[in-house]
Amino acid sequence: MKRDEWILKEDGFNPMALGKCESIMCQGNGYLGLRAATEERYIGERRGLFIAGTFNQFHESEVCELPNAADCLEMGIDLNGETFSLLSGTFKDYQRELDFETGELHRHVEWTAPSGDVYVLHFYRVVSLQNIHTIAQRVEITPLSSHATVKLSTGINGQMTNSGSQHFSEGAKRFYDRRYMQLVQTTTQSNIDFVFTTDVKLLENGKAKKVDTHIAMDRRKIFSAFTTDISKGSTLTIEKITTIHTSRDKNMDGCETAEIQAFGLEHLKVQAALGYAGLAKQSAETWQKLVWHNIPVTVDSKNPHHQLALRFAQYHLQIMAPAHDNRMNIGAKALSGEGYKGHTFWDTEIFALPYYIFTQPNTARSLEEYRYLSLPGAREKAKGNGYTGAQFPWESAWLTDGEVTPLFGAADIVTGLPIPILTGLIEIHISCDVCLGVWQYYMATGDEDFMEKYGYELIFETATFWASRLEDGADGLLHINNVIGPDEYKDGVDDDAFTNYFARWNLHLAMEYYDKLKDTPLLARLQERLTLDYDKWAEKAEKIYVPAPREDGVIPQNRTFLGLKDIDLTKYKTQKQVGSIYNDFNHEQIGEMQVCKQADVLLLILLMEAAFTPEVKRANWNYYEPRTLHDSSLSLSTHCILAGDMGDDDEALALFERACNIDMGPNLQSSNDGVHAGSIGGIWQCAVLGFGGLRLVGGQIRLAPKLPESWDKLTFYAWLRGQKVKIEVSKTEIILENETKTATVEIEINGNQHVLTDMLNIKLK
Ligand code: BGC
Repeated sequence: MKRDEWILKEDGFNPMALGKCESIMCQGNGYLGLRAATEERYIGERRGLFIAGTFNQFHESEVCELPNAADCLEMGIDLNGETFSLLSGTFKDYQRELDFETGELHRHVEWTAPSGDVYVLHFYRVVSLQNIHTIAQRVEITPLSSHATVKLSTGINGQMTNSGSQHFSEGAKRFYDRRYMQLVQTTTQSNIDFVFTTDVKLLENGKAKKVDTHIAMDRRKIFSAFTTDISKGSTLTIEKITTIHTSRDKNMDGCETAEIQAFGLEHLKVQAALGYAGLAKQSAETWQKLVWHNIPVTVDSKNPHHQLALRFAQYHLQIMAPAHDNRMNIGAKALSGEGYKGHTFWDTEIFALPYYIFTQPNTARSLEEYRYLSLPGAREKAKGNGYTGAQFPWESAWLTDGEVTPLFGAADIVTGLPIPILTGLIEIHISCDVCLGVWQYYMATGDEDFMEKYGYELIFETATFWASRLEDGADGLLHINNVIGPDEYKDGVDDDAFTNYFARWNLHLAMEYYDKLKDTPLLARLQERLTLDYDKWAEKAEKIYVPAPREDGVIPQNRTFLGLKDIDLTKYKTQKQVGSIYNDFNHEQIGEMQVCKQADVLLLILLMEAAFTPEVKRANWNYYEPRTLHDSSLSLSTHCILAGDMGDDDEALALFERACNIDMGPNLQSSNDGVHAGSIGGIWQCAVLGFGGLRLVGGQIRLAPKLPESWDKLTFYAWLRGQKVKIEVSKTEIILENETKTATVEIEINGNQHVLTDMLNIKLK
């Protein structure tokens, strides 16, 4: 096995890359996300630990966010009176590696202190995928030139903030048995208790070592200081195991703080007894079981970076999804940073969900159950705006929070004022995106139980919203005015193609399922609670205006777009940093130009591919690609897949590589605020939906692979209608193997209809 294709590496220590590495080497398990901050502290670091679903509002003038919880990684290390830091003395053999196979982060360095004393240090860390409450650390220090007096200080530090906002009130701090440290912190507004419990153990050459321990407390902080001597060539090992529980955990519901504290301590003792090695092994085995043995994507490519990027994607998609709790969803920056405040966007349904639908359907179901559980807020939002049905928030957080989009953003270069953010008010396509997610899940899985409990209601309620949202036009048709489409460079547009097409589709889908459920007890039950006005849906769907392709095939992005002025975009198309157009123009000015932030009409064409001819696809590609700046990371995967569909293979591969580079590439600032969750889903989409050609077209499962020239083979797994199918694609054949074999799967392969029972082998050429 090629180890290089498993390991994300930082070869040289670069203080400018601290934020980026913290994000892309983040560890987690869907319950928590831990940025890869170093044990010793540096200016420029952004230490962070985020627990899914624990939103708090710092002040009524701000929207809620995931609070940055206490830091349990920090370790002050003094060696013969000199503080270990890579910014003093000199060092060699530095390397930091995140091993996707095991989920372990390892850093090592040979450090020469300013005095000339030499030490080798190793730092290991795991966030358990097996026990989602546990973080394990091991540090090894070996003095090479003389004996050393080592002073260590470590504990739990609740002084963390979100860029200055302190979300916690001071809570209990306690030592148990002069050994276990515990810190409680409680969010100021949502009142969620966080209980951290930690154990530190020292060993010399593998044997337990008794050392001088001094225990201490400070504001929002509890820690222990250890002093010990270690002879030249011997290794001092520090093992620190920490557990985290919160009152938001389902099994802690209704518990008093003291009960959570007692539970935390008992749980820590059980975890600490396994030791670092035991915990790391358990977690690595779980990685194998859930991901690498279960649903790996493997590619035989001339460029090893492609495989690494796909593992990067699968790794992050695994640690970002709160699969343990259907009251939670995925944040736009996952659990890897403060960016977008932990909020959930359409990114989930359109960019990340397909991964879970095809590889971990239970997780996909949980993510869509979250939407169902947020229906009260969505109904409230519709009602508040004078509509009926469910209008989903553009940004959402805890189930009852409703719309949480902030009202202002970055500076306007012309006015000097913060730019108003209108997305929470008028980016309404999120309601059909949710409906699309539900439908795609259903089409791929056939999960009737989900539909009966949640799915139909979501589809009906979003349709009802659209029926109430449409406006009469002077032309006798119905319109949707004053919205933001996927291209967020255009505020307040009328008849946005993406929104109108999908609103009509949402209405038609509701009608189809209403007909299907006619005379069933389920429909009768739904009718008791909901207003299901079939005739109104039908009448509105009939009269909604959807912009048809012009004679040249181009679909107007909205009513005015094609009449806006065109400017030379070369400078921005070749930019090093996204959003550079804002250095020259303000938002209003950008709104007056034919320039798109991200895939918009092209995304519509991809998602509704059965509705458009190849000529229309090509015409819109030719029109919109040159005008799209990819200033949202969500954009590249769509363009990559479409390029491949049209036979522009080199372009498709180049776009795939650009998508991989959003987080993994050379731009040191790209990921400071966290990884780009949706675009990571996009990396997987490029490979499996794009080159692998697996799609749901009009609800039917279709396979039409088209490997890039430099790929010899692509292998992946997909759950199709309850069957786990291994799909192997090469230049000469396509092999499908049904590993579940409890049912057959109908699938169209390269234009021909097949029924997969056990195995299909299709020769190409
Ligand atoms: C994009 C949105 C996206 C959001 C969160 C914005 O920059 O334009 O489409 O939902 O980021 O990722």
